[in-house]
Amino acid sequence: MPTLKPLRLLAGAMVCAAAAAHADPLSYARYDQVRTADLHLDLKADFSHKTLTGYAELTLNWIDKSARALVLDTRDLSIAKVQVLNADGTWAPASYLLDKLDPARGQALRIALPGNGGQPNGQPNKVRIYYHTAPTATALQWMSPQQTMSGKRPFMFSQSEEINARSWAPVQDTPAVRFTYSARIDAPAGLRVVMSAENDQKATGAGGWKFTMPQPIPSYLLAIAIGEIDVRNLGPRTAVYAEPARIEAAAYEMADTEKMVSAAEALYGPYRWGRYDMIVLPPSFPIGGMENPRLTFVTPTMIAGDRSLVDLIAHELAHSWSGNLVTNASWKHFWLNEGFTTYVTTRVVEKLYGAEVADINLQVEQEEAMASLPEIAPAKQALITRDADVDPATYTDGGLVYPKGAWFLRTLEQRAGRDVFDPFLRGWFDQHAFQSATTDEFLVYLHKNLLDAHPDIMSDAEVNEWVYGAGIPAAAKHVASPRLAAIDIARTAWLKGELPTKDLDPKNWIALEWMHFLNDIDGKATAAQMKDLDAAYALGKSGNDEIAYRFFLSSIKAGYNVRGPLEKFLLSVGRQKFVVPLYTALLKTPDDRAWAKAVYATARPHYHPETQASVDKQFAKK
Ligand code: BES
Ligand code: ZN
Repeated sequence: MPTLKPLRLLAGAMVCAAAAAHADPLSYARYDQVRTADLHLDLKADFSHKTLTGYAELTLNWIDKSARALVLDTRDLSIAKVQVLNADGTWAPASYLLDKLDPARGQALRIALPGNGGQPNGQPNKVRIYYHTAPTATALQWMSPQQTMSGKRPFMFSQSEEINARSWAPVQDTPAVRFTYSARIDAPAGLRVVMSAENDQKATGAGGWKFTMPQPIPSYLLAIAIGEIDVRNLGPRTAVYAEPARIEAAAYEMADTEKMVSAAEALYGPYRWGRYDMIVLPPSFPIGGMENPRLTFVTPTMIAGDRSLVDLIAHELAHSWSGNLVTNASWKHFWLNEGFTTYVTTRVVEKLYGAEVADINLQVEQEEAMASLPEIAPAKQALITRDADVDPATYTDGGLVYPKGAWFLRTLEQRAGRDVFDPFLRGWFDQHAFQSATTDEFLVYLHKNLLDAHPDIMSDAEVNEWVYGAGIPAAAKHVASPRLAAIDIARTAWLKGELPTKDLDPKNWIALEWMHFLNDIDGKATAAQMKDLDAAYALGKSGNDEIAYRFFLSSIKAGYNVRGPLEKFLLSVGRQKFVVPLYTALLKTPDDRAWAKAVYATARPHYHPETQASVDKQFAKK
């Protein structure tokens, strides 16, 4: 939560939209005609070719009895054959067509429904698509043994959100459709396979790794990881998976997870997904965390050694209610996933670590949101664009909806009081459980369950300002933590040279206080001051990457040489949120640029393809 810029993978994607108004413009699926009820994947992982090969079997619910085709989303899939199930249980070949590639959406796979095979209207209950993925599949990263901790075995992981599931399975790749799934995965001996499903800790993989996901999920929550992976139980329904060399540190860092699940349940009702496990991925995992159900994926950079970044776990856990249980109906309604989750996160943090820490957390989040506004076009500062547009290029800023959505809910909470607001929010999750929702549906719910009875809480005009307006409404309350106010005073005096570095006295600062201190020296501190800070507190060696990252960024801007520790950081951290701004800052002077180029030459193979693409883009500029 502290920094609010996870990469929005589709940002800026241009789509020439021919899609109907009911549809998700990022999917070709006609889910008004047919919906996937269940998916079975039978795949073999081949590390030497970097492919998954096998078939996907979709169980279908036909809604439109006159529909004569099934349209699925794909990207870079090689289709070998398609079969449909006859009424007598035999499989019949079906003809199909792959559209030409659309850069934003991929390729529609259009399957014709043959004859009637004894099926009502010729619409089969099941189809099978035999296929293999491309080594360049956008969702998958295939890593050589050298890119792992042990250096002995290869590793592979997926990142499907927002629309990359289609690069490893032909599906209706829209969050408007939910299905249960199962899988059988073959992998080389000695490697473990885990998925966003029931993982059997005792499984050996003999006869294939088997998974079932009994709760219906949208496609972007399909996830898989394969590698040399150990598991350590943390509590009765929580465990952590990681590479063997990291499992100990991971178990220590995540010790509070079971308590977090209980805290979230006390606020928003039973956890509905069985177990809450996590997997710590290799450093090239391009984001902080991903809320894959039953198995959150996290960056190893969250292992700070002192549990100072566990709000990331609180965030991914919160998605078990906001996002995974109640899902944005299309990516235009992204704030329903991330804004709600950001709000819930702070509530969980408060339960575990107290109101003082939660307030510090919230203030840093609010201040970073305010600071980000000048860089975001006003039209992109809304929670959602009002027009019935179908062009994803007009979607709102993917970073701002986190704190702004949370701030909107916080404002309602503060005015309504928790006695009223908490049951209201819990009701939203309960009444829309395992469904996809739109902003309009939330606004109807808001009026019916809160504002109609308490119109003084918020006027329609103010609701509209939050949802459709730019910036943060003037009426919004800003958190003012006394601990952060004291740091502001110290920072000002220090920047003026009136307070010696050693008298900053940060012994008792938590990581968020350091982040708050560093956020406001950026572009203001001199090289000499950065040097002092470095000598006194060795921030470049901080185990907390949020701190080290901010220290590096300010150092580069101040012209203070941090190349030793920075090189180590760039070679060991692959998270886009850190890596891209650091290279961007380095490219501003010729000397730094030359140095950055050399470092990047070594670091690049260790980054995720998405991260490589973003950094490449920076180097390509002027
Ligand atoms: N669901 C997001 C990650 C995501 C968003 C992936 C959009 C692809 C497209 C996840 O829950 C998230 O928000 N992760 C944050 C961490 C969080 C603590 C703010 C991240 O990765 O930085
Ligand atoms: Zn999130």
